[in-house]
Amino acid sequence: MSIVHPDQAVELAPGVHWIGALDPHLRRFDIILSTANGTSYNAYLVRGEQGVAVIDTVKEAFADDFFRRLESVARYDEITTIVLNHLEPDHSGALPELLRRAPNARVYLSSRAQMMLKALLKPSSNQAPPDYTPVTTGDTIDLGGRTLAFFHTPYLHWPDTQCTWLVEEGMLFSGDVFGCHYCDPRLFNDRVGDFRFSFEYYYAHIMRPFRAHVLDALELLEPLDIRLIAPAHGPILRHHPRDYLARYREMATPRLALDTEAAGEKTLAVFYLSAYGNTRSMAEAIAIGAERIAGVRVSLFDLEGGDTAHFTDLIEAADGLAFGSPTLNGDAAPPIWALLSSLTTVNVKGKFGAAFGSYGWSGEAVRLIEDRLRGLKLRVPVEGLRLKLAPDASELDACRTLGETLARHLVGEAMPREVDLASLS
Ligand code: FEO
Repeated sequence: MSIVHPDQAVELAPGVHWIGALDPHLRRFDIILSTANGTSYNAYLVRGEQGVAVIDTVKEAFADDFFRRLESVARYDEITTIVLNHLEPDHSGALPELLRRAPNARVYLSSRAQMMLKALLKPSSNQAPPDYTPVTTGDTIDLGGRTLAFFHTPYLHWPDTQCTWLVEEGMLFSGDVFGCHYCDPRLFNDRVGDFRFSFEYYYAHIMRPFRAHVLDALELLEPLDIRLIAPAHGPILRHHPRDYLARYREMATPRLALDTEAAGEKTLAVFYLSAYGNTRSMAEAIAIGAERIAGVRVSLFDLEGGDTAHFTDLIEAADGLAFGSPTLNGDAAPPIWALLSSLTTVNVKGKFGAAFGSYGWSGEAVRLIEDRLRGLKLRVPVEGLRLKLAPDASELDACRTLGETLARHLVGEAMPREVDLASLS
C-alpha cells in the first residue's frame, strides 16, 4: 500500500520528513542508465527548536511535488538552513526557486560545490547569490536539539558530494551513495518490492569508477551508529541499514585482488579475438612470456567465447591488460570495442596496457587499440606488436618478449621506455 500522498510529506521521525518526488515513468537516467520502474528524487526536512533545515531538493520538473510536500510540514520563513549534499541537477533543480521562497536560509555545502553553486544560479542573473558556508568532516550545525554533522565524501560520484548525519536520530542523509533508481510509493526498504538488482546496478554504473573513494567514505561512515539511511534515490533504508554498508564494502573489494594481493602477485589479463588462429598464437606467446616473471599471474580470454560484460570485474582487479585483435576493414574487431567501451564504469587509470594483433593487409587495429588505452589513461610502456599473417618462430619470440616486458613493468622491474625523438617526426 502506498505511503506517499501527493500533497503530504512522509514522517521518518517526529519533525523529520521525506519531501521528495516520485518519477515512476522514467526509463533512462542520464542517457545511459536503464530504470525499469523509474526513480525517485529524495529530499528531506529536519525541524529543530531554532530552525528548519532542508536537505537537497529535486529535479526541476518535479519541483511542484517537492514544494507541496515541504509546505505540508513547514513555512518558508522557518527555513534557516539548506544543505546540499550534491549539486547534480536531479537534486538541485528546485534550488533556485527554494532560495527565492526561503531568502533567509543559509546554504551549507562542500568546498568543491561552491563553483557548481555559482554555475547553477547563473541563469537566474537577477537573483542575489545566497549566503553559503563550505563545510567538511567535523563541522556541525545546531538547529536546536537537532544537530547536523557533515562528512566529506568526495567523488561519490562527483567531486562535490558529501553526507549529512542527524546525530540525535542516527540518520544518514547520504546523497547518491547507497541509493538506486527504484521507484516505489511504499518508500521504505521493508515495504517496497525487491530492489537488490537496482541497488547493485546503481553501484556498478555510478560508484564503481570511484571504488577507492567508496572505501574512504566507508571508513568514515562505518563507525556511526546508523539507524536509518536516507539516500537521494530509491528506498529509504531503515531495516538493517548496516547491511547496505556491508554490501558496498563487498562490492568495492574485488576478490581476485584480495587473493593475489595476499600472495604478493600482480595480475595480467590478456583478451583477444582471432579469425584464423594467428592472433591467438600471439596471445598465448605473450602469456607464456609474462609467466616467466615471478609474481605475475596471467589470465587468457578469447572474446569469441561470449558476452564481454562479465569481464568488468576481472579488468577492475587486474594490474595489466593486453588486447589483441586482427584488423578487419581497417579497424579492430567489434567485441574489442565493446569491451573497451564498457571500461567507462571502471577506474583503469594507471594500469599497464598493451595491444597486439595479426593482420593481412594494413594492420590498423593495434594502433587504434593503443590510442584507446591511452585515452583511458592506461600506461602503455611497450609498443604494440603487429604481425603479418601467421607468426614465425622469431615473431613468436617477440610476442614472448612483449609479455615478459609488460610483466616486468607490473612487478616494478622494468626501466621506463626510452623514446627515440627521431621516431616522433
Ligand atoms: Fe542523483 Fe549524481 O545525481
